Amino acid sequence: MAAGINRQILLKSRPDGAPSLDNFELVQRPAPEPGDGEVLMRTRYLSLDPYMRGRMSAAKSYAKPVEIGEPMVGGTVGEIVASRNAKFAAGDIVTGYGGWQDYAVSGGVGLRKLDPAAAPVTTALGVLGMPGMTAYAGLLEIGRPRPGETVAVAAASGAVGSVVGQIARIKGCRAVGIAGGPDKCRYVVEELGFDACVDHRAADFRPRLEAACPAGIDVYFENVGGAVQQAVWPLLNDFARIPVCGLIAQYSAAPPMPGPEMFSVLRKRLLLRGFIVGDFAAKQDDFLRDAGEWVRSGRLKYREDLVDGLENAPAAFLGLLQGKNFGKLIVKVA
Ligand SMILES: NC(=O)c1ccc[n+]([C@@H]2O[C@H](COP(=O)([O-])OP(=O)(O)OC[C@H]3O[C@@H](n4cnc5c(N)ncnc54)[C@H](OP(=O)(O)O)[C@@H]3O)[C@@H](O)[C@H]2O)c1
Repeated sequence: MAAGINRQILLKSRPDGAPSLDNFELVQRPAPEPGDGEVLMRTRYLSLDPYMRGRMSAAKSYAKPVEIGEPMVGGTVGEIVASRNAKFAAGDIVTGYGGWQDYAVSGGVGLRKLDPAAAPVTTALGVLGMPGMTAYAGLLEIGRPRPGETVAVAAASGAVGSVVGQIARIKGCRAVGIAGGPDKCRYVVEELGFDACVDHRAADFRPRLEAACPAGIDVYFENVGGAVQQAVWPLLNDFARIPVCGLIAQYSAAPPMPGPEMFSVLRKRLLLRGFIVGDFAAKQDDFLRDAGEWVRSGRLKYREDLVDGLENAPAAFLGLLQGKNFGKLIVKVA
């Protein structure tokens, strides 16, 4: 890449149903200059996350959509290459929201300095970043797992689900994962230490899930919705808690899928609560302390799926929506 050139991946058009490569456009522009109080970051790593599907749509949501012709938003790990902000110096490695591009200017708000000696910097996008924090806060604050209970989570080999199940084990629960395919399921049990993992693509998924949850399900950490949710629903115990974290199986569904049978929410006195990770910003320090210690001690393991090259971000993102990633999906940009 020539110095001073900023490659950007823009949202070219909004998808109708499943997104495609045609919705993105790669352009080259001059790298921006930082103004007073600003820094210029060079992106090293870009996080690809399911929420980006929502930002491609104009539908009303909890965050503003990306405008057509604007760079896609995204969490990044970058290096400060020029600073006009007293809090940051050239050479600092930071995490923030630089987006799908080589360079980004920031006023410093929302930027966090990383210590590369403390943990690999990519963990700031996964196990020690937004997805890890989502798992930690959603499970502990809403799921409130008690020792001996059964915690079920889908996308169990992924960035959020892998942390949910491992924290459930740390809290003395039975952790049951749901994942796509035998390799992911094997990894979830053998490497991450879940008690069981069931392949949602298998023809006998429902009876296998029931067998993996002999005492029913006390906490269902909702990551996917769709057919998995329908299989989990009858296994919920009275007073089960459901942190509604994500519904990736439904993000591109057109027309929208029918929802759960809502009467059972009343009948079983279920706690069904949606949340956004930012609701728990006050827990960030607790999360970094606990998860940092669990990662250092080996109790919290993680897997990253690294893709090389910013130009490959769109294809990798489409793969994420189809379960092609295996672990936290991150693009190595530079
Ligand atoms: N509320 C929040 O603040 C918040 C924050 C972060 C993430 N989230 C949500 O958490 C969920 C997991 O995110 P992540 O970053 O950890 O992603 P991830 O698990 O690393 O990757 C996405 C995975 O979703 C699974 N999936 C995709 N389509 C599916 C389908 N039709 N049915 C079942 N599973 C499907 C695939 O795994 P398999 O191959 O194993 O099925 C895929 O690998 C997403 O719904 C995301 O939107 C919410």
